[in-house]
Amino acid sequence: MPVRARAHVYHMQPYRAGKPPEQLKQELGLTDLVRLSANENPLGASSRAKEAIVQHLDVIHLYPDGGCSQLREALSAFYRLPADYFLFGNGSDELIHLFGVAYLAPGDELMMAHPSFVRYEASAQLNQAILHQIPLTADLRHDLPAMARAITERTKLIYIANPNNPTGTIVYRDELKAFLARVPDHVLVVLDEAYYEYVDHPDYPDGLEHVRAGANVVVFRTFSKAYGLAGLRIGYAMGRPELLDPVERVREPFNVNALAQVAAAAALADQAHVARTRELNRAALSMLQAACERLGLRTVPSYANFLLIEVGPNSTQVQQRLLRRGFLVRTGEAFGMPTFLRVNTGTLEQMERFVEALNDALCEGSSA
Ligand SMILES: Cc1ncc(COP(=O)(O)O)c(C=O)c1O
Repeated sequence: MPVRARAHVYHMQPYRAGKPPEQLKQELGLTDLVRLSANENPLGASSRAKEAIVQHLDVIHLYPDGGCSQLREALSAFYRLPADYFLFGNGSDELIHLFGVAYLAPGDELMMAHPSFVRYEASAQLNQAILHQIPLTADLRHDLPAMARAITERTKLIYIANPNNPTGTIVYRDELKAFLARVPDHVLVVLDEAYYEYVDHPDYPDGLEHVRAGANVVVFRTFSKAYGLAGLRIGYAMGRPELLDPVERVREPFNVNALAQVAAAAALADQAHVARTRELNRAALSMLQAACERLGLRTVPSYANFLLIEVGPNSTQVQQRLLRRGFLVRTGEAFGMPTFLRVNTGTLEQMERFVEALNDALCEGSSA
């Protein structure tokens, strides 16, 4: 008999990494390729984070601090939250994985919006949980009343990405409060605030208010986006210690590497870099939105660092034409919105060139 892994594992989709940019450039004969597909920070990391990494190079033969103590203290002071309210992961991707492993038993339900961040689905599949996906509203926002109505005795975990990926839409303070009031005690709500630092809206809720109020809420944030450290892999969860405790039991002792820890602490101390990032994003997003409007393309109002642009039924063709012009973007195929492209913001110069390339790519389609 051949060796078999657990049967349900064969139903999971392996993550298919895109081709490395260097390979793509070579294949397409491009001198420059602008990646606008992974919601990364076009300004890169803070120079203080880079210096911290260089200073730490002499001790990389040592195991990292398994408790992330320095970063924990720094975040604890930053948020005025007790130090034992933090748990760290190899990116928030790992947090999603670990919360699933710790909390979901076969037959439990994981609830999420659709479309929303795809890694929640994988966590349900891995743990043989029932995936309950609640469609977004017509304006592509979380339908929190429908989510509250769909809760059952088996519901264990509810993920709310705020802002949502791929739409960039947010849930508002009042509706979140009303939703949480309807969530029974046996349910853990995760507010995934990967794009928290970008949001500029008076009614955007800070999930920590609910953590502080003692609700069954855990907030995820990451150093991958506004802090520009996606390549180092570090994210964190904030919640009451008793909610984090099961996850502490299942995580690996050294799940966050040493360079990520020192870089994150230095990046946290450089709020000026975060402010510059936010400012650039605001300008780039409004420029992109305005340009799409001029081109007659519908966009979804976004509060994150990316924009959904409706380009019609040939979005994959448009994506390929953009690629030939040196811009890598995501098609909505992957998340069930095949007429859209998801484009993250770059520098203003990149955005200007992107708009030209988009216009050309659309014209190429209409003249074909
Ligand atoms: C909503 C959301 N959550 C989590 C992640 C994962 O981020 P990280 O790089 O911290 O693993 C992403 C990344 O795109 C995301 O969009």
